[in-house]
Amino acid sequence: MTTTALRDQFPGLANNWHYLDTAATAQKPQVVLDAMMRAGGADYATVHRGVYARSANMTVAFEAARERVARFIGAASPNEVVFVRGATEGINLVAHSWGPANLNAGDRIMLSQLEHHSNIVPWQMLAEKVGAHIDVCPLTDDGLIDLDWLEANLTEQHKLVALAHVSNVLGSVLGVKRAAKAAQIGRASCRERVSSPV
Ligand SMILES: Cc1ncc(COP(=O)(O)O)c(C=O)c1O
Repeated sequence: MTTTALRDQFPGLANNWHYLDTAATAQKPQVVLDAMMRAGGADYATVHRGVYARSANMTVAFEAARERVARFIGAASPNEVVFVRGATEGINLVAHSWGPANLNAGDRIMLSQLEHHSNIVPWQMLAEKVGAHIDVCPLTDDGLIDLDWLEANLTEQHKLVALAHVSNVLGSVLGVKRAAKAAQIGRASCRERVSSPV
């Protein structure tokens, strides 16, 4: 598909508009806007809580979306997919559920210097609660998370590595595969991927 054909699917990019605030508010293609309109209009019904036909159809559609997302991200099961309203809610959910069950006093959490508040504060609260320590990976001169430093400084004590995939300030893109490989030393990672909740 050409870039023009792709852009044409997004009404919010008409008139040669360039939009860079995707992390906070992603533009949506027409097909998604149409689906949202149907879901909030003619098809609107409660999910998982009704016995009437429209509710059952809505539940099937909702679960089909979960399965599709699971395939897209390579999840082992649709049960691994939890829909949340945004990055802040998702990270807080992990921090307040997985966190206290898996982190103990003396464990370490690795963040980086370019993290958004939503990927700092939940971990600070968790660290305070369980007595863990937070380390902060520095950036290279060109604004990338310093993966050499990360590889050299991750230890068995690091139970969580939480890094932004793309910085909302610098636009720098994380070398995800390399960072994830390094994180396996600490056996846990949380890649923050901000996307529209649709
Ligand atoms: C890199 C990054 N992380 C997290 C967030 C917070 O996202 P949300 O509004 O989905 O909670 C933003 C919002 O702009 C962001 O840019």
